[in-house]
Amino acid sequence: MTRPTVPPGAAPPDVTLERFSRARLPRYVDALEQGWSPDNIRGAVAAREQLDAIAKDPDAFVWRSDDPEGRLPPIQGLDGVLYARLPGVTRWIWDDDFCGVISLRWDHDRTGVLPPHVLGHIGYAVVPWKRGLGRARQALKLILPVAWARGLPFVELTTQPDNLASQKVILANGGVLVERFAKPISMGGGESLRFRIRRPAGA
Ligand SMILES: CC(C)(COP(=O)(O)OP(=O)(O)OC[C@H]1O[C@@H](n2cnc3c(N)ncnc32)[C@H](O)[C@@H]1OP(=O)(O)O)[C@@H](O)C(=O)NCCC(=O)NCCS
Repeated sequence: MTRPTVPPGAAPPDVTLERFSRARLPRYVDALEQGWSPDNIRGAVAAREQLDAIAKDPDAFVWRSDDPEGRLPPIQGLDGVLYARLPGVTRWIWDDDFCGVISLRWDHDRTGVLPPHVLGHIGYAVVPWKRGLGRARQALKLILPVAWARGLPFVELTTQPDNLASQKVILANGGVLVERFAKPISMGGGESLRFRIRRPAGA
Protein backbone atom coordinates (compact mmCIF):
# COMPACT_ATOMS: atom_id res chain seq x y z
CA MET A 1 0.00 0.00 0.00
CA THR A 2 2.14 2.90 -1.21
CA ARG A 3 1.20 6.34 -2.45
CA PRO A 4 3.14 9.44 -3.53
CA THR A 5 3.68 11.63 -0.51
CA VAL A 6 5.87 14.63 0.27
CA PRO A 7 8.99 14.90 -1.95
CA PRO A 8 12.27 14.44 -0.03
CA GLY A 9 13.31 17.64 1.76
CA ALA A 10 9.94 19.39 1.29
CA ALA A 11 7.90 20.42 4.36
CA PRO A 12 4.55 18.59 4.52
CA PRO A 13 1.53 20.90 4.20
CA ASP A 14 -0.36 21.91 7.33
CA VAL A 15 -3.11 19.71 8.69
CA THR A 16 -6.75 20.77 8.94
CA LEU A 17 -9.68 18.89 10.43
CA GLU A 18 -12.57 18.66 7.99
CA ARG A 19 -16.19 17.72 8.43
CA PHE A 20 -17.20 14.77 6.29
CA SER A 21 -18.59 15.95 2.94
CA ARG A 22 -19.92 14.45 -0.28
CA ALA A 23 -17.34 16.51 -2.19
CA ARG A 24 -14.38 14.81 -0.49
CA LEU A 25 -15.99 11.43 0.15
CA PRO A 26 -14.31 9.79 -2.91
CA ARG A 27 -10.88 10.28 -1.31
CA TYR A 28 -12.12 8.50 1.84
CA VAL A 29 -13.59 5.67 -0.23
CA ASP A 30 -10.28 5.38 -2.07
CA ALA A 31 -8.40 4.94 1.22
CA LEU A 32 -10.85 2.24 2.36
CA GLU A 33 -10.53 0.47 -0.98
CA GLN A 34 -6.73 0.50 -0.61
CA GLY A 35 -7.19 -1.69 2.47
CA TRP A 36 -6.90 0.98 5.17
CA SER A 37 -9.33 0.87 8.10
CA PRO A 38 -10.28 3.72 10.42
CA ASP A 39 -11.10 1.16 13.12
CA ASN A 40 -8.05 -0.01 15.01
CA ILE A 41 -9.92 -2.88 16.66
CA ARG A 42 -12.34 -4.20 14.01
CA GLY A 43 -10.01 -3.54 11.06
CA ALA A 44 -11.08 -4.84 7.64
CA VAL A 45 -14.58 -5.79 8.83
CA ALA A 46 -15.29 -2.18 9.82
CA ALA A 47 -13.82 -0.89 6.54
CA ARG A 48 -16.10 -3.22 4.55
CA GLU A 49 -19.12 -2.11 6.58
CA GLN A 50 -18.30 1.53 5.85
CA LEU A 51 -17.88 0.90 2.11
CA ASP A 52 -21.26 -0.83 2.07
CA ALA A 53 -22.89 2.00 4.04
CA ILE A 54 -21.44 4.62 1.69
CA ALA A 55 -22.63 2.70 -1.38
CA LYS A 56 -26.13 2.40 0.10
CA ASP A 57 -26.60 5.98 1.31
CA PRO A 58 -23.63 8.36 1.10
CA ASP A 59 -25.58 11.31 2.54
CA ALA A 60 -26.50 9.33 5.65
CA PHE A 61 -22.88 8.23 6.05
CA VAL A 62 -21.72 11.87 5.96
CA TRP A 63 -24.50 12.94 8.32
CA ARG A 64 -23.68 10.26 10.92
CA SER A 65 -20.12 11.54 11.35
CA ASP A 66 -21.43 14.50 13.31
CA ASP A 67 -23.45 13.59 16.40
CA PRO A 68 -22.85 16.21 19.12
CA GLU A 69 -26.23 15.45 20.73
CA GLY A 70 -25.68 11.67 20.90
CA ARG A 71 -28.82 10.88 18.92
CA LEU A 72 -27.50 7.96 16.87
CA PRO A 73 -28.70 4.43 17.69
CA PRO A 74 -26.83 2.28 20.25
CA ILE A 75 -23.54 0.73 19.23
CA GLN A 76 -22.77 -3.02 19.41
CA GLY A 77 -19.70 -4.02 21.43
CA LEU A 78 -17.45 -6.95 20.49
CA ASP A 79 -19.34 -8.87 23.21
CA GLY A 80 -22.56 -8.47 21.21
CA VAL A 81 -24.13 -6.16 23.81
CA LEU A 82 -25.76 -2.90 22.68
CA TYR A 83 -24.34 0.19 24.40
CA ALA A 84 -25.78 3.71 24.44
CA ARG A 85 -23.83 5.94 22.07
CA LEU A 86 -22.12 8.99 23.51
CA PRO A 87 -22.26 12.39 21.79
CA GLY A 88 -19.30 12.95 19.51
CA VAL A 89 -17.84 14.13 16.24
CA THR A 90 -15.50 12.55 13.72
CA ARG A 91 -13.32 14.63 11.44
CA TRP A 92 -11.14 13.88 8.44
CA ILE A 93 -7.47 14.68 8.92
CA TRP A 94 -6.52 16.50 5.74
CA ASP A 95 -3.43 18.18 4.27
CA ASP A 96 -3.33 18.36 0.48
CA ASP A 97 -5.29 15.09 0.50
CA PHE A 98 -7.03 12.68 2.85
CA CYS A 99 -4.74 11.58 5.73
CA GLY A 100 -6.97 9.81 8.23
CA VAL A 101 -9.68 10.27 10.85
CA ILE A 102 -9.86 11.58 14.39
CA SER A 103 -12.89 11.27 16.64
CA LEU A 104 -13.88 12.91 19.89
CA ARG A 105 -16.67 11.74 22.21
CA TRP A 106 -17.77 12.93 25.62
CA ASP A 107 -20.14 12.08 28.46
CA HIS A 108 -23.46 13.95 28.56
CA ASP A 109 -22.60 15.59 31.91
CA ARG A 110 -19.12 16.73 30.75
CA THR A 111 -17.42 15.32 33.86
CA GLY A 112 -14.84 13.61 31.68
CA VAL A 113 -15.70 10.24 33.25
CA LEU A 114 -16.49 7.67 30.56
CA PRO A 115 -18.41 4.38 30.87
CA PRO A 116 -16.08 1.33 31.08
CA HIS A 117 -16.88 0.18 27.54
CA VAL A 118 -15.64 3.48 26.02
CA LEU A 119 -11.87 3.42 25.54
CA GLY A 120 -11.04 7.11 25.72
CA HIS A 121 -12.40 10.39 24.45
CA ILE A 122 -10.25 10.53 21.34
CA GLY A 123 -9.26 8.00 18.72
CA TYR A 124 -7.37 8.42 15.45
CA ALA A 125 -5.91 6.53 12.52
CA VAL A 126 -3.70 7.74 9.67
CA VAL A 127 -3.35 6.05 6.27
CA PRO A 128 0.01 4.26 5.89
CA TRP A 129 1.21 6.56 3.09
CA LYS A 130 0.83 9.67 5.29
CA ARG A 131 2.42 8.29 8.47
CA GLY A 132 5.52 9.76 10.11
CA LEU A 133 4.74 13.28 8.84
CA GLY A 134 3.21 14.60 12.06
CA ARG A 135 -0.37 14.17 10.78
CA ALA A 136 -1.69 12.52 13.98
CA ARG A 137 0.30 14.84 16.27
CA GLN A 138 -1.17 17.91 14.55
CA ALA A 139 -4.67 16.44 14.39
CA LEU A 140 -4.68 15.76 18.14
CA LYS A 141 -3.45 19.31 18.78
CA LEU A 142 -6.31 20.67 16.66
CA ILE A 143 -9.06 18.63 18.29
CA LEU A 144 -8.12 19.41 21.90
CA PRO A 145 -9.66 22.94 21.78
CA VAL A 146 -12.90 21.31 20.59
CA ALA A 147 -12.88 19.16 23.73
CA TRP A 148 -12.19 22.18 25.96
CA ALA A 149 -14.97 24.12 24.22
CA ARG A 150 -17.35 21.26 25.09
CA GLY A 151 -16.47 21.80 28.77
CA LEU A 152 -14.36 18.69 29.38
CA PRO A 153 -11.82 19.09 32.22
CA PHE A 154 -9.55 16.45 30.66
CA VAL A 155 -9.49 13.88 27.91
CA GLU A 156 -8.27 10.30 28.11
CA LEU A 157 -6.68 8.28 25.33
CA THR A 158 -5.78 4.61 25.42
CA THR A 159 -3.17 2.74 23.41
CA GLN A 160 -1.73 -0.74 23.17
CA PRO A 161 1.54 -0.95 25.15
CA ASP A 162 3.41 -1.69 21.90
CA ASN A 163 1.89 1.23 19.95
CA LEU A 164 4.88 3.54 20.38
CA ALA A 165 3.85 5.85 17.54
CA SER A 166 0.50 6.62 19.19
CA GLN A 167 2.17 7.10 22.57
CA LYS A 168 4.56 9.64 21.03
CA VAL A 169 1.59 11.50 19.54
CA ILE A 170 -0.09 11.69 22.97
CA LEU A 171 3.07 12.66 24.87
CA ALA A 172 3.81 15.41 22.31
CA ASN A 173 0.39 16.88 23.17
CA GLY A 174 0.90 16.97 26.94
CA GLY A 175 -0.43 13.49 27.75
CA VAL A 176 0.52 11.87 31.04
CA LEU A 177 0.38 8.10 31.64
CA VAL A 178 -2.33 7.34 34.22
CA GLU A 179 -2.46 3.54 34.33
CA ARG A 180 -1.96 0.18 32.68
CA PHE A 181 -5.26 -1.72 32.67
CA ALA A 182 -7.11 -4.72 31.25
CA LYS A 183 -9.50 -3.81 28.44
CA PRO A 184 -13.08 -5.05 28.81
CA ILE A 185 -14.08 -8.01 26.63
CA SER A 186 -16.50 -5.67 24.82
CA MET A 187 -13.37 -3.89 23.49
CA GLY A 188 -11.43 -6.99 22.60
CA GLY A 189 -9.63 -7.65 25.94
CA GLY A 190 -5.87 -7.45 26.45
CA GLU A 191 -3.67 -4.85 28.11
CA SER A 192 -3.85 -1.15 27.43
CA LEU A 193 -2.32 2.13 28.61
CA ARG A 194 -4.46 5.06 29.66
CA PHE A 195 -3.16 8.61 29.17
CA ARG A 196 -4.75 11.84 30.30
CA ILE A 197 -4.43 15.38 28.87
CA ARG A 198 -5.73 18.10 31.20
CA ARG A 199 -7.44 21.25 29.99
CA PRO A 200 -4.86 24.04 30.27
CA ALA A 201 -5.69 27.00 32.52
CA GLY A 202 -7.61 29.62 30.54
CA ALA A 203 -8.64 27.20 27.76
C1 LIG B 1 -0.53 5.86 15.50
C2 LIG B 1 -0.70 6.66 14.22
C3 LIG B 1 -2.06 7.33 14.24
C4 LIG B 1 0.41 7.72 14.15
O1 LIG B 1 0.13 8.55 13.02
P1 LIG B 1 1.28 9.47 12.37
O2 LIG B 1 0.61 10.55 11.59
O3 LIG B 1 2.26 8.63 11.68
O4 LIG B 1 1.94 10.09 13.68
P2 LIG B 1 2.98 11.30 13.75
O5 LIG B 1 3.76 11.35 12.50
O6 LIG B 1 2.23 12.52 14.17
O7 LIG B 1 3.89 10.86 14.99
C5 LIG B 1 4.33 9.53 15.11
C6 LIG B 1 5.59 9.51 15.95
O8 LIG B 1 5.90 8.15 16.25
C7 LIG B 1 7.13 7.80 15.67
N1 LIG B 1 7.03 6.40 15.28
C8 LIG B 1 6.39 5.90 14.22
N2 LIG B 1 6.50 4.54 14.23
C9 LIG B 1 7.18 4.22 15.36
C10 LIG B 1 7.63 3.01 15.93
N3 LIG B 1 7.35 1.83 15.36
N4 LIG B 1 8.35 3.07 17.08
C11 LIG B 1 8.62 4.23 17.68
N5 LIG B 1 8.22 5.44 17.18
C12 LIG B 1 7.53 5.41 16.03
C13 LIG B 1 7.34 8.78 14.55
O9 LIG B 1 8.72 8.92 14.22
C14 LIG B 1 6.80 10.05 15.20
O10 LIG B 1 7.70 10.52 16.17
P3 LIG B 1 8.25 12.02 16.16
O11 LIG B 1 7.05 12.92 16.37
O12 LIG B 1 9.21 12.06 17.28
O13 LIG B 1 8.85 12.20 14.81
C15 LIG B 1 -0.58 5.75 12.96
O14 LIG B 1 0.59 4.99 13.06
C16 LIG B 1 -1.79 4.82 12.79
O15 LIG B 1 -2.77 5.20 12.19
N6 LIG B 1 -1.69 3.60 13.32
C17 LIG B 1 -2.81 2.64 13.24
C18 LIG B 1 -4.00 3.10 14.06
C19 LIG B 1 -3.62 3.42 15.48
O16 LIG B 1 -2.73 2.80 16.07
N7 LIG B 1 -4.31 4.42 16.05
C20 LIG B 1 -4.10 4.86 17.40
C21 LIG B 1 -4.85 3.96 18.32
S1 LIG B 1 -4.49 4.38 20.01
